[in-house]
Parts: sequence; C-alpha cells; structure tokens
Amino acid sequence: MTNHSNRHLFSPYKIGAMQLPHRIALAPLTRCRTGDDRVPSDLHALYYAQRASAAIAISEATQISPMGIGYRGTPGIHNEAQVQGWKRVADAVHAAGGRLFVQLWHVGRVSHPHWLGGETPVSSSGVLLEGQTRLSDGSLVPYVAPRALALDEIPLVIADYVAAATNAIRAGADGVEIHAANGYLIDQFLRDGVNHRGDAYGGSIPNRIRFLREVTEAVAHACGGHRVGVRLSPTNRFNQIWDSDPHALFVAAAESLNPFDLGYLHILEGVAGSSSAPAEGQKPVASTMRKAFHGTIMINGGYDAASGDAAIQSGLADLVAYGIPFIANPDLPVRYRLGATITPPNQSTWYAEGARGYTDYAMLTHEQPAAVNASAS
Ligand SMILES: Cc1cc2nc3c(=O)[nH]c(=O)nc-3n(C[C@H](O)[C@H](O)[C@H](O)COP(=O)(O)O)c2cc1C
Repeated sequence: MTNHSNRHLFSPYKIGAMQLPHRIALAPLTRCRTGDDRVPSDLHALYYAQRASAAIAISEATQISPMGIGYRGTPGIHNEAQVQGWKRVADAVHAAGGRLFVQLWHVGRVSHPHWLGGETPVSSSGVLLEGQTRLSDGSLVPYVAPRALALDEIPLVIADYVAAATNAIRAGADGVEIHAANGYLIDQFLRDGVNHRGDAYGGSIPNRIRFLREVTEAVAHACGGHRVGVRLSPTNRFNQIWDSDPHALFVAAAESLNPFDLGYLHILEGVAGSSSAPAEGQKPVASTMRKAFHGTIMINGGYDAASGDAAIQSGLADLVAYGIPFIANPDLPVRYRLGATITPPNQSTWYAEGARGYTDYAMLTHEQPAAVNASAS
C-alpha cells in the first residue's frame, strides 16, 4: 500500500551542498552501548547504518571532553580511538546512502565525581541538581553541588567543543549538532533557574546567551556553518532546568544564531500530549523562534507521519526529527511512506547492553524503498 498523503514530509530539501531526499531526521538517542573506553564499535556502525534512510541521522549525545561525561556507556569524541570508532560509523552510514551529524555534549552539573576522576562537576553556577544518579556498579548516589566555571575556563571549554567538532568532521561526519537542550551545560547557562552568575555570562538574556553564541560561532568557524546544527529545548524541564521567561530567552537565542549560516536550528518542543510538550504553565515558543531564525528549522517531540507532514505544510518547520519511533522501526521513512505498521519499542532495552533491543528490530525488505519511489507520486 502506498501512502500518498504525506507529500510534504517526502519532498526533497537542501542544506548547503547536502541534498536530502525527504524531511525525516533521526533524533539524537542515547543508547549506552559503549564499553568503558567510550569508543563506538561495529555494533554502533550497524545501528546507524540501519537508520541511514533518515534525511540526517543525528548521533546520540557524545562527550566533547572527559569533564563532559555523566553516564555509563555514552561515547566520546575527544581521543583518537573514539575518532576511529566514529569513522567506522560514518563510513557505514555513507555506504548505506545516509548522512551523519554527531551530537556534541557536555553534561555540566548532570555528572558526579565518579565519572570525572574525583573532580567536581562544572556548571554556570553552583546550583545542585536534586536527586540521584546511577554509577557504573549500578548503585544510586545523590548528585553533588557543581562548581561555577571560572571566567578564564570558559574559552577552554569552547576550545573543547571546537576540537570535538573538528574530530567529528575528520571522522567523516557530515556535520555536528551542538547539544544546547535538556538541562545540560549550555542550557545551564541559558536558563535563569540555574544560571545565577553575576558576570558577562549571567543575568541579562544577552549575557546568558553569550556562551551558546560563542560556542556556535567557534564551531561554525571551524567546520563551516552548514555543517553545524544547534539543538534547543525552550520549554521542557529535563534535569530540573527552568526559566522565568522562555519566550523572551529563546526567541533572542534563535535570533542570536542568525549570523552563523547554520545548517539548521533544532527545536525540541513536543506536540500536545507528548512527554516533550511544554511544561505546565508554559506557552509554546517554537513558532515565534521560527520567525526569529532565518535558516532551516527542525522540529521534534511526539510527532507521527501525519503531524510531521502538517508541521511542514503549516510552515512551522522544514525538517521533522523522530526519536522513539526510530528505535523499533529502523526504516521509519519507508514505513511512513508505505503507511506500514509502526512497531512500539521495548523500553526496558533503551539503555541496556548489546544487540538486544538495539540492532535486532526488523526492517522491511531492502528492495522496498526503490519500489516505493517508483510507484509513489
Ligand atoms: C532513549 C532516549 C534517548 C535520548 N537521548 C537523547 C540524546 O542523546 N540527546 C538529545 O538531545 N535528546 C535525547 N533524547 C530526546 C529525543 O531526541 C527526543 O527529543 C524525544 O524522544 C522526543 O521525540 P520523539 O517523540 O520523536 O521521541 C532521548 C530520548 C530517548 C527516548
């Protein structure tokens, strides 16, 4: 059965020299499958190759430095073995006809000295994340209060983003996505619930945006703007992040990114009813950010084929990223195009080890995409 109704989702799109066959991106998904070396393996290469029919496959969040680590099994891109691991992934995605962006991550305060060789986690300010985190032996311990990055340390962290980005490009990735969402380090600078600094990186909105802008400018300068995406989550409260005026903050943040000729701005603000819908009492910001930003917008959060198609038709976004739907449907674009059944994922294996629940979800046959293209109008 060919589904003719999602024609906006299946129209081609161009970012710089990159031709995208449709508008469906793979959202970044942490899956915790590396060993202690945090090097992507052949299993990762297979996982991403299976999902290479995405217009852009955005990688799981990937540490830019040892101080950026916060969880078991997450990859890095700050040493040579990791670069070689990502090269295997990029080669496999390209061999399957896809494009790979590596998501650049520093967790900031969402860490623990356990992961940092005994060091205290860093953040914009010393505001404690309440609750517990899981260590490598599976035990749960409370987070510790982070320390505020000193002014003269900030350029060093920006240099870590640049080094990680150039490592990703050297590994053969088509681009990088700067993870400025979900309460991690850059978001800890953006939102005033956590950023209590009194210097040029805190207080006013322009000051709180400064770190994001400097990271983005430096990475775009190093890689070329079209190879850089930025991910923002204006209205969620992951990792106890919040802001007193997300509308003013994130519209200004979107505007501040205009000079860098970015590949895309990725907005995680889900549709009503999804877990990523705006937190209670917060109005959606994405449509105003869309007007403020002059480049490509990718939207994400609770979309299916019909609502994603409508988001493009309405002009809210140019691309739609899908996360959970891609976990158990590696060939999601083909399924959406066919109107085929969408398999629900097994949540107990999201962060498990090995191939189970990772690379063992069924694909429709490999012949189908060509047949679909030939018969679809
Ligand atoms: C298992 C899992 C892992 C995730 N890992 C990341 C991540 O590494 N980086 C990130 O920015 N978002 C991450 N997210 C958020 C997703 O990218 C996405 O925003 C969210 O699932 C909502 O989109 P969806 O409804 O299409 O799944 C993760 C979500 C899930 C369910």
